[in-house]
Amino acid sequence: MRDNRKNYLTNIGSQMDFSTNTSVSIHQTKTAALAAGIFADGVLSPAADVIDRACGGAIRDLVKSEFKGKTGSTLVLRNLQGVSAPRIVLVGLGKQSEYSARVHAKAEQAFAAACVQLRVVEATSTLVSIACPESTVQDRARSAGSAATDAAYYYDETMGKPDVDARPKLKKISVWIGKSDQAATEKGLKEGVALGQGVSLARTLGNLPGNICTPTYLGDSAKKLAKQFSSIKVNVLDQKQIAALKMGSFLSVAKGSDQPPKFIVLHYKGKAPAKTASKTSSKQHAKQQGPVVLVGKGITFDSGGVSIKPAATMDEMKFDMCGAASVLGTFQTIAQLGLPLEVIGLIPTCENMVSGRANKPGDVVTSMSGQTIEILNTDAEGRLILCDALTYAERFKPSAVIDIATLTGACVVALGGVNSGLFSKDDALAESLLKAGKQSGDTAWRMPMDDAYQEQLKSNFADMANIGGMPAGSVTAACFLSRFTKAYRWAHLDIAGTAWKGGATKGSTGRPVPLLVQYLLNQA
Ligand code: BES
Ligand code: MN
Ligand code: ZN
Repeated sequence: MRDNRKNYLTNIGSQMDFSTNTSVSIHQTKTAALAAGIFADGVLSPAADVIDRACGGAIRDLVKSEFKGKTGSTLVLRNLQGVSAPRIVLVGLGKQSEYSARVHAKAEQAFAAACVQLRVVEATSTLVSIACPESTVQDRARSAGSAATDAAYYYDETMGKPDVDARPKLKKISVWIGKSDQAATEKGLKEGVALGQGVSLARTLGNLPGNICTPTYLGDSAKKLAKQFSSIKVNVLDQKQIAALKMGSFLSVAKGSDQPPKFIVLHYKGKAPAKTASKTSSKQHAKQQGPVVLVGKGITFDSGGVSIKPAATMDEMKFDMCGAASVLGTFQTIAQLGLPLEVIGLIPTCENMVSGRANKPGDVVTSMSGQTIEILNTDAEGRLILCDALTYAERFKPSAVIDIATLTGACVVALGGVNSGLFSKDDALAESLLKAGKQSGDTAWRMPMDDAYQEQLKSNFADMANIGGMPAGSVTAACFLSRFTKAYRWAHLDIAGTAWKGGATKGSTGRPVPLLVQYLLNQA
């Protein structure tokens, strides 16, 4: 491994170009790969129909014999007579009666994956033009842009000899659309590509090993974002400054490690759009009073501390900073888009290690809020660093605070890799996050937060214990955090099951950047 490589973020911000195509004769479009959507019932999408007529019915023949239009399936046809594109990619859309934004997104992902496999540099999708319920052209274009950017993601930062030829070649996605939808499509594509780049940043930070992606490295990455975008300001507080804030709970975790902790404070402020009428602008003003604050757990490696974790799959605890990575990815996207919002990002970041200075079971620490905590398990460290960041968040008088954390194994048991766990006592905030999850295909599931669960956090020696025992482990973790969030509207996303995948495809997913970006798009 090349420890001499100064900058591991070489891929980040790698551009995916995009454009629209409003020509009526799609079969004459010169493009390396052209998508043609096919429903399971044998129904051809409008574009597929035009292509089929141009080549004398070759697609209809295949639909009868071989290609059944199963959602996300693809079949590549080469050099069709009368068609300019050398490759037509049939893309299955499932049953027409069940067509949805979710299926459309899956189809775009399948097409993008096929284009990467075909090793083409540019491609044209016609799938955005297919109407589907509860989605706009802009939504579908966003999906197409993020699918292409995501499919072109690769990680080789820490390969001794990166296989440059194996890197995806896809650099440009075009979307075929009617003239009247061109403006909305371009907007959506721009959003999708920016989202894809934010997801890529989150994935790369997650995938980098703990010996490279340290708290200092995360701080430097945040500073890099501020250099790239004048709308982002960053302040990285060091151990001394964290101590001056009296973040005794955060520091108790950090002190077991030789890596110095950092507290990263990001401030994004987008310009408000040109005011059209004074009435609408005052309405907009009423919508957001105070910034949205995003708080990301930044444990760059979680050994468990003295309550040490078993060795098998402990390597995956390098992903314990994926909450932090999702905050940085979200900032990259919203700054790229210039969303007219104010957003604060807070990232407490350190390692959870074993040493003579580490927390011990039974230790009592004092949080920034003044509340004391008995540490019954040093592996429940995420909540110990988050609670002080949540107290710090008060000073911004936020309209909402959302923390994002790979917080509990219990959440993986409850929800697996499908849904992130959503915890909030605020129904309106919870609903808007659930909605953003559905819109972006990055879904969450609401979990209970009844006061009765608080009982499990009782301690004989402090204001609370840091664990609540086996039952409802992800709920008691959320209940612990709730004790530091009384001053504002708050929601917690437990992404322990969704932020990365294990096994053969081990790697960061970039979730929940799509959910967070969609939530902020809906606010703007
Ligand atoms: N980072 C882990 C949570 C985690 C574990 C995420 C496994 C994904 C997979 C967190 O710091 C942790 O260790 N939580 C403990 C809490 C327990 C001690 C109450 C857990 O879930 O086991
Ligand atoms: Mn832990
Ligand atoms: Zn952890």
